[in-house]
Parts: sequence; C-alpha cells; structure tokens
Amino acid sequence: MADVNITVDGKKVTAPAGTLLIEACKGVGIEVPSFCYYPNLSLQGACRMCLVKVEKMPKLQTACTTVITEGMAVTTDSPEIHQALPLGISFFTFQLVSYVIDVQRGTVEVERDPVRFAAYILMFPHLIAGPIVRYADIRNEMHADRRKTSHVGLGVQYFIVGLCQKVLVANTLAPLAD
Ligand code: FES
Repeated sequence: MADVNITVDGKKVTAPAGTLLIEACKGVGIEVPSFCYYPNLSLQGACRMCLVKVEKMPKLQTACTTVITEGMAVTTDSPEIHQALPLGISFFTFQLVSYVIDVQRGTVEVERDPVRFAAYILMFPHLIAGPIVRYADIRNEMHADRRKTSHVGLGVQYFIVGLCQKVLVANTLAPLAD
C-alpha cells in the first residue's frame, strides 16, 4: 500500500494510505486524547475527545474517523481545540441538563442521595454510546431495593465463572490474539 505524507504539529509523518489520523499521530509519539476509539473495532466518533484542526477544513475533525490524505497539515494543540474539548463530555453535560430541566418541571424529585446521583450521571455505557437517559425513566429502578441474600450466592457464582473464563480461556488465547 502506498505511503502518504502528512504534517502533524509541524512534524513530518509518513504512514500507509488508509491510516486513521489518530494512528498516524501515535506513530510520531503524539497522543490524541480519545474515549470511544478502540483500534480494530467499529468507529464511533461519539465522544469528540479527539478533535484536531485540519488545514483547509472549516470545522474541527475527529482524528479517530479521519483517514489521512497526502499533504494534510494537522494541529493537535491550539486554543480552538481546547475550547472545543469540553463538548467532548457532552453526554455528561446533556444528562445533567436533562436532570435539571426535569426537576424544574416537577417531573422528578430532587435526588438527595449523592451516591445514586453520581451513579446516574456516571453510567459509563451511556457516556460513549448515548442516548441521553432521563432521570425520570430510571429513578424508580435506582430506588428499588433488590438486595436479597439469595443474590449473594448468585453473585459469587457469577464471579467464579467469570474468573475461570478469564484465567482458563482468555489468558490462554491472549498470546494467539497478540
Ligand atoms: S475518540 Fe474520536 S470521537 Fe471519540
């Protein structure tokens, strides 16, 4: 595959055609922050943590979904990028905004338990994948008391099965995958 030459923060970078910008940056030791990008998995482009400036493009681009092209000039660190980065946590922001609006409208009561509130805000799958979860939709489940002694045994059983899968299967296959 032909090589493509680009410039990242003034450094010349050569990488095979088809390389993603985030990988090309890594190749010269420039780490672009990312949340939802995992090599070899389908591209998300959801968190927008990896925004960079590409010359001649009007808006900031996500390095994890942009394929390098010949002569591309990229900036990974600028005031414009730093201003835009907080939007990278937009799922946090929008989830908080939806909560405040719901409380203001009287749709839900104020959550006075800081642990439950933190759990609602930090639920990781929704951070990277969306959609925004309205507090009104999950409030009752978060308040339900599901602790039963029979669940302890089930939890231990799941833990042991998971540990066995990790140690016996995953660890054995890991060298093949690497
Ligand atoms: S890492 Fe690029 S959008 Fe999430």
